[in-house]
Parts: sequence; C-alpha cells; structure tokens
Amino acid sequence: MDNSIKEKIKELKEKNDVVILAHYYVDGEVQEISDYVGDSFYLAKVATTVKQQTILFCGVSFMGESAKILNPQKKVIMADNTADCPMAHMVDIDRIREVRRQYDDVAVVCYVNSTAEIKAESDVCVTSSNAVTIVKKLPNRNIFFIPDNNLARFVAKQVPDKHFIFNDGFCHVHKSIHSEDVAKAKELHPEALVLAHPECTEDTLALADFIGSTSQIIDYATASPENVFIICTEMGVFFELMQKNPDKKFYSVGHRQFCPNMKKVRMEKVIEALENIDSDNYNIEYVNLDEDLRKAAEKPLSRMLELAK
Ligand code: 13P
Ligand code: SF4
Repeated sequence: MDNSIKEKIKELKEKNDVVILAHYYVDGEVQEISDYVGDSFYLAKVATTVKQQTILFCGVSFMGESAKILNPQKKVIMADNTADCPMAHMVDIDRIREVRRQYDDVAVVCYVNSTAEIKAESDVCVTSSNAVTIVKKLPNRNIFFIPDNNLARFVAKQVPDKHFIFNDGFCHVHKSIHSEDVAKAKELHPEALVLAHPECTEDTLALADFIGSTSQIIDYATASPENVFIICTEMGVFFELMQKNPDKKFYSVGHRQFCPNMKKVRMEKVIEALENIDSDNYNIEYVNLDEDLRKAAEKPLSRMLELAK
C-alpha cells in the first residue's frame, strides 16, 4: 500500500483520537492500517483497554455493539453502518423465554454473533474461541445455545455431560463450505491439513484436522510443522495467514468463502469516516444503545470476559 495513505490515516487517527479495530474477515488492506486485528473475542477484550476516545470498528454491527456495551463512555463508529451479520438475528426472543419456562436451571448461552437485544436475554456470551471452556464452567446442566446451531453442536460434542437445546441459526458463508468440496480439495492436495471454523456444518467439521476461531486457525497454521493447508472459513483470514507464513500454501474450498457484509468494509469508507469525524456536513452515526438495554447486555458479556480467564 502507498505509504502516503498510511501516513494520512495515522495523522487523522492522532488528530481525532481514534483507534481502529478490525476483524480478520475484512479486506487485507483494511487490516493493514488497523491498530488491532483479531477474532471476536480478542476484539471485545481489546476494546476495553484502548485509551483513545473513539473506536472506529471495521467489522459487522454486533462487534461495534459489543465495544459500545463494554465501553459506554467511548464513541464507537462503524466503518460501514449497514454491515450486519444475518446470524445475529436468528433467534426469537419469545423462544428464549419459552425455553426458560420449560427448564428451571437452563443457562442461555449466547454466541457474540447476536444483537444487543438477544444478549440482554442471555446468561452468558461466548465466542468460537472460548465457548467450550465457558460452557464447561457453568453450573447448569441444561444449555440453550443461541443463535448458531453448528457451533452449538460442536460444543455439545465436547461437553457430553450437559443437555443442549438447539436453535436453528447458521452462518450462510460457513454453511456454503460443503463437505463434498472439502473432500475434492483433499484429493487435489492430499498432504494438506484441513483447518475449519466451528460455524461450518457437522459434515464439513468431520473432515477437519483442526477446528477453531479465526485467530486459532491462524495460530495453528503458523505453529504447525506442516506446510499445506485447506482453509474452511471466510477468505479474509488468508491475509494474516500469508503475512505470517509466506512460505506455506493455503487453499480455499470452492468460491463461496466471502462474507458480503464483512466485504462492505472498504478502505475508502475508513478514510471517509476518519476525514469527516468532526465535520457537521458528514452524517456520522455513532453506535447508540438505550442505557437499560446496554446494561442488560453488558452482564453476559462481562461474565464471558470473567469466565474466559
Ligand atoms: P471469530 O473471529 O471469533 O472466529 O468469528 C468468526 C465470525 O464469523 C465473525 O463473524
Ligand atoms: Fe456473520 Fe458469517 Fe459473516 Fe461471520 S462470516 S459476520 S457469522 S455472516
């Protein structure tokens, strides 16, 4: 990338006291100019430690909401306000209340890929990197795991002593990574290890040598003595995988590993937001939550940060 763009972004960030947080699924060039890049858990944690007054979030809306929920005193802006994760809406609040009535001791375990309203109805949040650890620590035997069915099934397998109630949410990007295509990729690259995100379907996960969050996939490939990998998650991770491992080979599965919402976060939008942060002519929409809702959603998120330690 042109150094003058990097310099300009640096100046604008300093002038406006802004820190940029980005998820591994956004374009590589956006990751390159961000201050912190990571998986959902890392980004939620890091949002609580940054000293700048404004967080510019390069990701989807539930991530910006989590940053705001945990830091009500900070301003949070999304690089693209319309970037939203469809799975974040895939559970009905009435269904949560119904399950609570059915099971006395149920813990509503909420994947962070969820709206603030859904979090507010939940007992604890989890991410793909800490879900197993946290569910194991809960005293409850009954677990209603929302919204993702695939992550829920992955966790349930590893915590067999608990009873899981499933919801039918899913990530359309990971669902489109079909096991037949993974099998074909393995035929083409028999020496490759298959690294998959737990949002993939059960049959795809059955072919994986390692299952983990985006950061865990990157760390696994980096630490591995192996050199060839088939990657079953969104293409954005290839940027960091290749940065850290220029001599290793990474293959995708088919051509559908793109999250259209993450891909809305373009470099031009990051620059536009930074340039206009103080301008009256520019309609900056800060992430804004009703205080009662924010407080209710903060409880399960803070509990996650506590239990994940
Ligand atoms: P992680 O980065 O936490 O693995 O999350 C994946 C994801 O789908 C985020 O939208
Ligand atoms: Fe949502 Fe899937 Fe996109 Fe992640 S990759 S933001 S879970 S649609």
